[in-house]
Amino acid sequence: MKPTITLLTLLFSAFATSNSLSFFGGDQQVLDEDLKVPGDNPLYYCQKTDNYSLTIDKVDLTPNPPSPGKTLTIKAKGNFTEDVEEGAYINLSVKYGLIRLINQRADLCEQMKNVDEECPLSGGKTITKDVDLPKEIPPGSYTVLADVYTSSDEQVTCLNAHVKF
Ligand SMILES: *[C@@H]1O[C@H](CO)[C@@H](O)[C@H](O)[C@H]1NC(C)=O
Ligand SMILES: *[C@@H]1O[C@H](CO)[C@@H](O)[C@H](O)[C@H]1NC(C)=O
Ligand SMILES: *[C@@H]1O[C@H](CO)[C@@H](O)[C@H](O)[C@H]1NC(C)=O
Repeated sequence: MKPTITLLTLLFSAFATSNSLSFFGGDQQVLDEDLKVPGDNPLYYCQKTDNYSLTIDKVDLTPNPPSPGKTLTIKAKGNFTEDVEEGAYINLSVKYGLIRLINQRADLCEQMKNVDEECPLSGGKTITKDVDLPKEIPPGSYTVLADVYTSSDEQVTCLNAHVKF
């Protein structure tokens, strides 16, 4: 399996399941409904979106919630209001409970090839992707943070999700 596919699968599988926030105890982050990403998904923006160069119209996951061992279909529609060139990157962090599983910087343009897109990214985009979720995702609470920047460190987007398998 190619590392990029592994990363993408982890990202999507970790983003994959909505859950009740009551699992997160006293110091849980309170998620602001104003920051909810439109569509059938568990994603939230990290902060107000005024200054992001990607506008997300909608992200739909089918099924939502997805289930381990099943194919997850992701449909996303957005608009790059400023062009995103080579050198853009994703800082991805995935935590399992309090344990940090992944803390990784990935090349955005490389990752986009998995969904048949190439940099520069500009204008309206619609992406559809099927991801086969592994059967053996360890049950538990996951926190995912994906922070996306251009090569000159301008924010493209920042998303997070609390998910439970
Ligand atoms: C992204 O991650 C890298 C490596 O972990 C880190 O050096 C860098 O400061 C991070 N960038 C931002 C803008 O947080
Ligand atoms: C994308 O955003 C630009 C700049 O705001 C706008 O001119 C354009 O019409 C938008 N395109 C789509 C497909 O929404
Ligand atoms: C918005 O982004 C621009 C360009 O990256 C930056 O110069 C500016 O400080 C940002 N504004 C805010 C409010 O973050």
